[in-house]
Amino acid sequence: MVKCDISYTLRPAFSSMRGMNDSFNIFDLRNQLYVRKICFNSDKIEFYNHSFWYRDNYKKISIIESNKVFLGYIRLDRDNFVNIAILKKFQSKGLASDILSKMDNGFAVVFDDNLASIKAFMRAGFKPVGKLYKK
Ligand SMILES: CC(C)(COP(=O)(O)OP(=O)(O)OC[C@H]1O[C@@H](n2cnc3c(N)ncnc32)[C@H](O)[C@@H]1OP(=O)(O)O)[C@@H](O)C(=O)NCCC(=O)NCCS
Repeated sequence: MVKCDISYTLRPAFSSMRGMNDSFNIFDLRNQLYVRKICFNSDKIEFYNHSFWYRDNYKKISIIESNKVFLGYIRLDRDNFVNIAILKKFQSKGLASDILSKMDNGFAVVFDDNLASIKAFMRAGFKPVGKLYKK
């Protein structure tokens, strides 16, 4: 049973035509060091590049919010690969575990040293299935 200390809602991300807020919030969170560290590309992202990426990807993203305050996002890519990020000040409240526990199935790439992520995925019922090799 997952315990979550914060009430939240999930809604589809808006296109940047409908409002830039979601795009900005995701851009900002994605560029935080603690998120960059867990990405294959850990370089800082330029807003120009982010805008094109967002235009092509916003339909895969759900915004996690509480009373319209942005807490984080979850993205479900093709093949059901999940990517989730929570703003620092809302972490360790059980949010990711709770959201992930509601998924029936999915995959995630989680680095060995990303202990918070390992905990959240495991608590949500995900099981390790192998190792990732990189060159
Ligand atoms: C991974 C992440 C999404 C977890 O979100 P969250 O809402 O804080 O997760 P939860 O609160 O459900 O669970 C995290 C657990 O890890 C623990 N934790 C947090 N930081 C930790 C650390 N540095 N070392 C060990 N455990 C840690 C938390 O205390 C919590 O465990 P607890 O409930 O037993 O105390 C969040 O840390 C994050 O956004 N990280 C950056 C992006 C990322 O790594 N995404 C995952 C890859 S897809």
